Amino acid sequence: METNFNMTLTLQDCQAMDAADPLRELRAQFSIPADTIYLDGNSLGAMPARTPARVARVVSQEWGTDLIQSWNKHGWSQLPGQVGDKIARLIGAGAGEVVATDSTSINLFKVLGAALPIAQADAPRRKRIVSERSNFPTDLYIAEALCKQHGWELVLVESDAVAAALTPDVAILMLTHVNYRTGAMHDMAALTAAAHAAGILTVWDLAHSAGAVPVDLKGAGADFAVGCGYKYLNGGPGAPAFVWVHPRHTDRFWQPLAGWWGHAAPFAFTPEYQPAPGIARYLCGTQPMISLAALECGVDTVLAAEPLGGMAALRAKSLALTDLFIRLVQERCAGHGLGLATPLEHTQRGSQVCLTRSEGAYAIVQALIARGVIGDFRAGDDGMHPDILRFGFTPLYIGFEDVWHAVEHLKQVLEHGEWQRPEFNRRHAVT
Ligand SMILES: Cc1ncc(COP(=O)(O)O)c(C=O)c1O
Repeated sequence: METNFNMTLTLQDCQAMDAADPLRELRAQFSIPADTIYLDGNSLGAMPARTPARVARVVSQEWGTDLIQSWNKHGWSQLPGQVGDKIARLIGAGAGEVVATDSTSINLFKVLGAALPIAQADAPRRKRIVSERSNFPTDLYIAEALCKQHGWELVLVESDAVAAALTPDVAILMLTHVNYRTGAMHDMAALTAAAHAAGILTVWDLAHSAGAVPVDLKGAGADFAVGCGYKYLNGGPGAPAFVWVHPRHTDRFWQPLAGWWGHAAPFAFTPEYQPAPGIARYLCGTQPMISLAALECGVDTVLAAEPLGGMAALRAKSLALTDLFIRLVQERCAGHGLGLATPLEHTQRGSQVCLTRSEGAYAIVQALIARGVIGDFRAGDDGMHPDILRFGFTPLYIGFEDVWHAVEHLKQVLEHGEWQRPEFNRRHAVT
């Protein structure tokens, strides 16, 4: 890492940035333990302060008292679409085009399963799905399973070779917008245009984008998208994910998990499946009301930024936070063997910063966690990637002073060799 700054930053500078931050009041929406600097909202978002009461109300009043009437009385059956409409505002989709449901993995299965016959109908000889080798593994596993089932081929390329891989035998380009390991962000509009010019459909995974960076699915002309509810949308562990399909495709084919909740008239109980018009057909079975209520609280924390400039303001702060973190690491942790895996270029960066180190990355993260600075570790086990110390910056609840202290802790962990202690080198099941 190289330093190229004239003035050294101080804690007071960071405090001044917080004082000038128009979004600082949004942190009060969250319940974050004292003495914790939470830099893992890219993995599991922090808990909104309003979530426990809402969940308690759904359990005690809606379920406990109103029982089955709640499907109508409390609008339970509308919740997947209601939360979907709110998410739509964050990703450049329209009302009625998104449902909150199932997991990202399952939604990916559904959209790929719907995209295959569309691609086949338009160009029967195309039998390839192209993706990035460093895509999140579940995306690759789901695509691989579908390819096996349909006799297709999954082709994996490096991130800089995606455009060159868009050949006439390809049906679908499946990418994650912001890479989970490096935080590198693709140009969705450019790649979608390149794919369409080659007659290829696009499927985007917005797990690290929704609520983190501005997304304009309709503007980019994308075909399908899925994304995660428990990261930057703060929906809670295992929160429902979401699915979007461009209206030009929604009604063309069934999705493969044709359950009764995606039926045009579920309570007609007909033996034949008749898909609901629009995105509702992407629902499968009975939806999880407690989880959807928690997800709605989380999405509302992001929408609370709308009067303050919305995703553009969140993005500006996110870039300022990640710029500051990179700069402070360069200034204060020089000489400790840290590298940077995240692009410096703003247009190519999501809302996280990933550092590399050839030795002790896992233990350094553990030592930081013991000091109350929560990041995470991603292994470079495949031998092609370095081990990564991953830090997510959620502008809703992270401030500039937090960044200062996080880097100060990192400096101390490195300077004193604290990470070498045995307790920080024992691997947990979840990293
Ligand atoms: C890009 C991406 N896709 C999908 C997932 C996981 O999806 P699921 O919620 O189905 O486990 C993750 C989890 O971190 C992810 O980073």
